[in-house]
Amino acid sequence: MTRVCAFASGRGSNLRALVEAHESGRCAAEVVAVVSDRSDAPALAFAKERRLATHVVPFRRQERDAWNRQLAEAFTASEATWAVLAGFMRIVGTPLLETTGGRIVNVHPSLLPAFPGLHAPAQAIAAGVRVSGCTVHLVDGGVDTGPVLAQASVPVFQDDDETALHARIQQVEHQLLPFVLDAIALGRLDERARWRDGGRSVAERAWR
Ligand code: GRF
Repeated sequence: MTRVCAFASGRGSNLRALVEAHESGRCAAEVVAVVSDRSDAPALAFAKERRLATHVVPFRRQERDAWNRQLAEAFTASEATWAVLAGFMRIVGTPLLETTGGRIVNVHPSLLPAFPGLHAPAQAIAAGVRVSGCTVHLVDGGVDTGPVLAQASVPVFQDDDETALHARIQQVEHQLLPFVLDAIALGRLDERARWRDGGRSVAERAWR
């Protein structure tokens, strides 16, 4: 069993998608704990409802090093083997990256490397692109810069605003994130983050 520790700051729809995918047998990875930097995060309320272990690690700018160590400690306490940033709105530091041994993924609402950082759907609209989507990638020390594992695309319509485009992107996030975690749990991810799947990409299989 692949145990997952999820980090979430907000609504938690990706967290819910992961938990429900596991419950319905679509994802072999199981979320066992949720860590949040906000005690009022709806993601945390959902985690409590499902009786998952929860940890609140409030962000303190002046004590960033201690905060980063606490994130790593929460991961260790969860006895998870993978970490998922599911709408965690902070940059995580070296302690968590080292403690996870690089087994940490993020979901981002753009086709990276395009539009990293905040408000990615608004950035896509401002740039006038006709296609956007989401990316699941390994986390490194940068902002949305780690190796890409899988992507899924959605159209961008003329009259889209940030909310409409983000909602369309989230629909594919909710499929892609559990799909990638399932592939990880089934051992389809090798050390260099390449997929062994008969030459087909994970995203293609996701949409079959
Ligand atoms: C998602 O769009 C994700 O790509 C980004 O933050 C958002 C979190 O949404 N990193 P939710 O809290 O999972 O609903």
